[in-house]
Amino acid sequence: MTNVTDQDRVLIFDTTLRDGEQSPGATMTHDEKLEIAELLDDMGVDIIEAGFPIASEGDFKAVSEIAQRAKNARICGLARANFADIDRCWEAVKHAEKNRIHTFIGTSPLHRAIPNLTQDEMAEKIHETVSHARNLCEDVQWSPMDATRTEWDYLCRVIEIAIKAGATTINIPDTVGYTAPAESADLIRRLIETVPGADEVIFATHCHNDLGMATANALAAVAGGARQIECTINGLGERAGNTALEEVVMAMRTRNDIMPWKTGIDTTKIMHISRRVATVSGFPVQFNKAIVGKNAFAHESGIHQDGMLKNRENFEIMRPEDIGLSGTSLPLGKHSGRAALRDKLETLGYEVGDNQLKDIFVRFKELADRKKEVFDDDLIALMSADDATNDHLQLVSMKVTCGTGGQAEATVELEVDGKDVIATEHGDGPVDATFKAIRAIYPNKAHLQLYQVHAVTEGTDAQATVSVRLEEDGMIATGQSANTDTVVASAKAYISALNRLIMRREKAGPGADAREISYKDLT
Ligand code: KIV
Ligand code: ZN
Repeated sequence: MTNVTDQDRVLIFDTTLRDGEQSPGATMTHDEKLEIAELLDDMGVDIIEAGFPIASEGDFKAVSEIAQRAKNARICGLARANFADIDRCWEAVKHAEKNRIHTFIGTSPLHRAIPNLTQDEMAEKIHETVSHARNLCEDVQWSPMDATRTEWDYLCRVIEIAIKAGATTINIPDTVGYTAPAESADLIRRLIETVPGADEVIFATHCHNDLGMATANALAAVAGGARQIECTINGLGERAGNTALEEVVMAMRTRNDIMPWKTGIDTTKIMHISRRVATVSGFPVQFNKAIVGKNAFAHESGIHQDGMLKNRENFEIMRPEDIGLSGTSLPLGKHSGRAALRDKLETLGYEVGDNQLKDIFVRFKELADRKKEVFDDDLIALMSADDATNDHLQLVSMKVTCGTGGQAEATVELEVDGKDVIATEHGDGPVDATFKAIRAIYPNKAHLQLYQVHAVTEGTDAQATVSVRLEEDGMIATGQSANTDTVVASAKAYISALNRLIMRREKAGPGADAREISYKDLT
């Protein structure tokens, strides 16, 4: 059981792989989930909610494997309030040295109406399901979903039942991001004061960001007595997302004078995991996002630069190094060797084997030929691009001509399962023409859900990072690529997303990748 003996210690429960991944379009592959779980474990997250095992075979496998591999963190799975969900969850998490079953039911009037249960019937269900979970696992978390819109008396009643049935953590979800800081603190404080047995369990806070208050609400809940924060990297999550891990952790660290709580997080790992989650989820981080945004430590205006040069504390309340951002470092160039590249990648948080380094070095040299100076951000873009060589579709060559009227012509040559195929198409601009040519070569009914371009650095020779998200029959795949030529990056990102769709289809069989239980069933 996870006990907080030190009253100042706040447990960090990361749900990037469950609540974050359930965000439409943020689906990660099995390997990506394993990678993110390893990074979370390594950075000192106390509990990793690794998925919702009954939702699909893929979720089950991911949770089981994460449970087998975890070194320090407790591995948790989500289960609705029924025996089948709970049993499946236990089957997946039981492999972990430290495990947890997280079971929940919607307790607000609106959510009670969905299964059409009376208050008494729901109370009975909570008793049965939490007892069942506790018979399997010594660490059980229970959540009254939509707690912040549940009647006070009923909330107290069901929490008492869950504690008596053996729950060890009581999580208070603000499912629709409805609460505000003063109310959030007050709710936890009053629950701890009122509910019999509350002092024997840990209270957790789980906030959504619909009104932009998830971080404030979570920290306020801690002020009210919660000792576990549920959060995701980059605030990933459905709608406006969840509380961002990096924000609560850095807030407690930076303003420890007024928020005197500590976590076990190694904050120097924040930046790397933020980038990896952005890449694998296909959800880029907004430039001015707190802590991990590209501009969070950039001081561009003249006044700020002057102030920074005199004393960095004038404008910086945190040091970039604290979150793993290396200070200003010298760019690499075409004469930089393999050792310098490896060294730089290590400072950026990437550990690469000899074979991987060989491949990256080739791509680095190609880039350095086109671009005089290769900055840290260029290397990060290079590491994030999916340019796998064993894919079904590979870009061989492309030529695009643009006219002043907007019409463009693209000739694309792809290697499709070892055979070269060429197509020429016209379109509304170079990207449209290119995508049409790719579709002519590899006909598909994938729908383009997202197309995004970011300049990695400044200058006209800057690389562009392009993200493409495709959807086909409920299956979603994202692809990313970076190139000094935006149209080439677009083609590669589109091809990469197609390759991922093909891979998923093959792995899962017809239609099997779509979750058997949609997350829509939860909320
Ligand atoms: O937001 C929510 O209520 C949830 C529950 C499943 C805990 O994510
Ligand atoms: Zn949630």
